[in-house]
Amino acid sequence: MSVDRAKEILKAGDVVAIPTETVYGLAADIDQEKALRRVFAIKERPFFDPLIVHIDTIAKARALTTEWTEIHEALAKKCWPGPLTLLAPKIPTLNPLITSGLGEVGLRCPRHPLTLELLKDFSGLAAPSANKFGKTSPTTAEHVKAEFGEQVYVLDGGSCDVGIESTVAAVVRASGRWKLMVYRPGFYTAATLHDMLEDAGLPTETSYAESPVAPGHLQHHYMPSIPVLVGEKLTAGELIEGAEKKLKIKLTRTAKLELGDDPILAARTFYQSLRDLTPGHDAIVVMLTENQRKEENWRALMNRLFKAASFRA
Ligand code: TXA
Ligand code: MG
Repeated sequence: MSVDRAKEILKAGDVVAIPTETVYGLAADIDQEKALRRVFAIKERPFFDPLIVHIDTIAKARALTTEWTEIHEALAKKCWPGPLTLLAPKIPTLNPLITSGLGEVGLRCPRHPLTLELLKDFSGLAAPSANKFGKTSPTTAEHVKAEFGEQVYVLDGGSCDVGIESTVAAVVRASGRWKLMVYRPGFYTAATLHDMLEDAGLPTETSYAESPVAPGHLQHHYMPSIPVLVGEKLTAGELIEGAEKKLKIKLTRTAKLELGDDPILAARTFYQSLRDLTPGHDAIVVMLTENQRKEENWRALMNRLFKAASFRA
């Protein structure tokens, strides 16, 4: 399908799966409630989980918010197009379905040429990851088709480069000062964002936190249809035995997923690997090294892995 055709379908109020550098999104025109409702229906997503709005310019992001601070501006200039979502107070006319009734909207400019071209004709496209709610995110057009079949048009842009979802960050006021809170870890770490702000002459306290309002941070998410077992301290044998007892199953055909030494490469192939290892196996075993468990550069992938896990020991 061409970008022009995708445009027509979106303008007609239907949804299209779009490529981004992180994962494929299921996009709807933010100005069409019918399309927004269709996203929730197809994904079987609860209305309490807000959608990220994708835009192609900082000006369009600004136009959707009532307060765009110099921190937003500095980070958007450094990271966009790229895997960073920034929360900012929404304009009153933005459909509350997008933000689940919350006062802030998540905004991000994705780094994919086809989607950037598509975005030119919209004030914004709301797009959650193009998977059923709680399931493994899609990093190729084939993954989207396998999940939704004929129900969804897909703009095929190849496989996603980053491979896991964007960093989600909010600018909040605490004791009279701006602070940056990272609600979802991603390619950009809190430390990297902190350094960027410092370089821009805006030293800002930056930390990880659970979002106080958005429940998009459920304990289980991204799960494939077979259990993922994560070994932190036990041997693989002990891990499998523990999982058999806890989950009350017998495991005879476990697959081992090696994450390797490079967190960027590991993230790129993570969801693909969960999908590839599912057929023919009854569990996926991931044994972690100390580095992977503790290093800042592995944090985003550990976040996804732990949410995808049915058993950790
Ligand atoms: O990389 C990505 O961000 C991908 C691609 C498609 O852009 N999108 C994505 O969307 O991961 P989704 O819906 O699967 O996850 C978005 C999460 C929500 O679950 C929520 O935690 C957070 O972003 N979020 C979005 N809007 C928010 C808001 N207004 N306030 C707080 N958190 C918000
Ligand atoms: Mg998702």
